[in-house]
Amino acid sequence: MTAEDTDITLRVENLKAFYTSKAGLVRGVNNISFVVRKGESVGLFGESGAGKTSVAMAILGLFENMSRYYSSTAANEENKRLWKLKDEAKKKGLTSEDIGEELPGVEGHIWFKGEDLLTLEEKEFRKIRGNEITYVPQGSTKSLNPYSTFEEQTAEVLRAHDEDNELTDWHVMKRVLQSLDLVELGDVDIRKDMKPSQFSVGEDQRVLIAMALIPNPALLIADEPTTAVDMAIQLRILEAIQIIRKDTDLSLLMISNNQGTISQTCDKVAVMTAGMIVEFGTTATIMNSPGHPFTRAFIMSNPTMEIIRKMKEKGLRIRGIPGKPPDLSQPIIGCPFCERCEYVEEECKTKVPEFREVEEGHFVMCRRFEELPEW
Ligand SMILES: Nc1ncnc2c1ncn2[C@@H]1O[C@H](COP(=O)(O)OP(=O)(O)OP(=O)(O)O)[C@@H](O)[C@H]1O
Ligand SMILES: [Mg+2]
Repeated sequence: MTAEDTDITLRVENLKAFYTSKAGLVRGVNNISFVVRKGESVGLFGESGAGKTSVAMAILGLFENMSRYYSSTAANEENKRLWKLKDEAKKKGLTSEDIGEELPGVEGHIWFKGEDLLTLEEKEFRKIRGNEITYVPQGSTKSLNPYSTFEEQTAEVLRAHDEDNELTDWHVMKRVLQSLDLVELGDVDIRKDMKPSQFSVGEDQRVLIAMALIPNPALLIADEPTTAVDMAIQLRILEAIQIIRKDTDLSLLMISNNQGTISQTCDKVAVMTAGMIVEFGTTATIMNSPGHPFTRAFIMSNPTMEIIRKMKEKGLRIRGIPGKPPDLSQPIIGCPFCERCEYVEEECKTKVPEFREVEEGHFVMCRRFEELPEW
């Protein structure tokens, strides 16, 4: 870490997170780097299966145990060998590059407050996870306990990290009410005594966001916080997130495949496909003048009203991205989008393109960026 890094909350560097499966290694996250600054909101935006949740799991220190668990249920000799190799390499401080073979689990660096999270023991990680870094999981309404009141559940979050028993009941109650208030659940005095079964899905989601805010984290990771709720509630959830951001220097990593969610809540966006980041820039740049053919195709496959208007002007049709995303059990040799790209050339298939800065703060992983038609 250098002096200029003091305003950086999270720095992900050359992160890889590989699963094992019946088909061998699955390259869920394949060598990505990005930074989230203090008070900044960065979106991970990309299609299903792009690796967004895997990035979150890696940051939360859960990826390796999770992928080992899935691997144990598959019980395949080759997978056992790979995990053993990984353990041996780790003990010796060697990377996959050092031993010349790809390995399962997580590799790279995740800098948070001057420490590389990937070097922490589980005991140390527990002080950070759920406390300094919190998470609203994907499909999260099932994460609440239906039998206990919101007050009990939110208080539990606070107490879990209060090792020295410093918090009085009064403090706990105050924080619970404050956070329920922050996400604009009206009548918090009454609502704190209600159970999740008495709430709507959208309200549950906001309670989960409130719970994730209670410890006063430096980083909140929200994974698809608005799926499974209707438009009106989506807007209220997103508004609540915006309100929270205004009042604190919370950093946010917002995971979504929805343009509206990203546009409303993010300052910057990393566009993901096939475990890689293919474009990075401000939200305005990514949404209004995307540079990578994948970003363009993805935005057009699920357009906002504004994009629909623009497409009509240009006589373009709304259509899904043709073809299938690459098979992540095979190494990606060229551009991760080359099989589906209408601008593909031979070299795109044989070399991973450089991730280069095409204008200040705007990075695109496309050899042909300058030749692409204007958007
Ligand atoms: N336990 C697992 N074992 C093997 N492969 C997995 C496992 N979990 C996820 N994958 C694969 O890793 C890739 C990345 O998955 P991930 O869940 O991170 O994607 P995502 O971007 O969050 O997708 P979505 O938008 O659908 O939530 C996918 O190709 C997925 O099939
Ligand atoms: Mg996901």
